[in-house]
Amino acid sequence: MVYTVGVAGAGTMGAGIAQVCAQQGLRTLLYDVNTGLAHQALANIRKTWETLEAKGKLTSEQVAGAVDNLQVVAQVQQLKSDLLVEAIVERPDIKQELYRAWEEANSEEALLVSNTSSLSIDVLAATLRHPQRFAGLHFFNPAPLMKLVEIVVGRKTPDEVVATLKNFCERIGKVAVVVKDSPGFIVNRVARPFYTEAFDMLDRGVVLPAALDAALRNAGFKMGPCELTDLIGQDINYAVTGGLYESFDRAERFTPSEAQGRLVREGKLGKKSGEGFYAYAK
Ligand SMILES: NC(=O)c1ccc[n+]([C@@H]2O[C@H](COP(=O)([O-])OP(=O)(O)OC[C@H]3O[C@@H](n4cnc5c(N)ncnc54)[C@H](O)[C@@H]3O)[C@@H](O)[C@H]2O)c1
Repeated sequence: MVYTVGVAGAGTMGAGIAQVCAQQGLRTLLYDVNTGLAHQALANIRKTWETLEAKGKLTSEQVAGAVDNLQVVAQVQQLKSDLLVEAIVERPDIKQELYRAWEEANSEEALLVSNTSSLSIDVLAATLRHPQRFAGLHFFNPAPLMKLVEIVVGRKTPDEVVATLKNFCERIGKVAVVVKDSPGFIVNRVARPFYTEAFDMLDRGVVLPAALDAALRNAGFKMGPCELTDLIGQDINYAVTGGLYESFDRAERFTPSEAQGRLVREGKLGKKSGEGFYAYAK
C-alpha cells in the first residue's frame, strides 16, 4: 500500500502529479533541486485549489486536507516515501544519480517509478541497487486533468509491483494501462506521426504554426501540434521523437524536425520558458 508519495521534480509534470496525490488524500512530499521552484509550485497548486473551491469543485474541508497533505522538502534524503515518482529532467545520468541518493535513504520495500517519456525503463534500472522495485509510471500533461497513466513494465519489474501501481493509480483516480518497456510506450509512439508530419510541413514552409493548429483543432483534435508541444515542452517532445528515431534505426517516419530542433536550441521551450511556437505572458 502507498501512504506517502515522494515526487521528485516540481516542473510541469511533478507539480501536477503532486497536486493529484495530495488532493486524493495521500501525504505528498515534493522535492526539486531548485527549492525555490518547488515552493513556487506549491504556491501555484494552492492557488489552483482556491480556484477549484471558488468554483464549487472542491469543498473548503477538501482544500484544507489537500494543503495539509502537501509539503516541500529541501533534500533528497527527506523524500522518505512508500513510492517515489521521479519527474525530473530527461537525462538518464541525472535521474540515476537521484535514484542512488533516494535508495540510500529509503527501505528496500519502497517503490520507485519514473515518469520518463522517452527513456528505457531497463536502462534507467541498470544502476539501481534494487531494480525489482522499479517501473515506469507515465502520466500525461496536464496531470490533474488527464486520466491515463501508462504503467511501464521493465524486465525486472515483478507482478506484485505492477499490482501495487495499479492500486495506486485507482486510488488517485487514474486509468492505468500496462505496457512492456518499449520505445515511446503506447501513446507517444502511436501519436508520433501527428507531430512529425505536422512539423515536416513547417520545415518545408508550406504552412505556418497558427494555420496548422487551426486546421487540426477545427478538424476535431483538442489542440493543434504547435500549441500542444508548447504545453508539453518542446525539449520533452523533441527528446521523445529523437528517442524513437534512434530506437527504430533512424526510421524516416520518426525523423526529428528542424523547426523544433531550432526552438530547443534557442531555449524556446514553450509555455514553461515563456516562448515556443507562440509567445506567452509570464
Ligand atoms: N512535459 C510533458 O508533457 C511530459 C509528459 C509526460 C512525461 N514527462 C516526463 O516527465 C519528466 C519531467 O518533465 P517536465 O516536463 O515536468 O520537465 P520540466 O523541465 O518542466 O521540470 C523538470 C524539473 O526537474 C528539476 N530537476 C532537474 N534535475 C533535478 C534533480 N537532480 N533533482 C530534483 N529535481 C531536478 C528541474 O529543476 C525542473 O523543475 C521527464 O522525464 C519527461 O520526459 C513529461
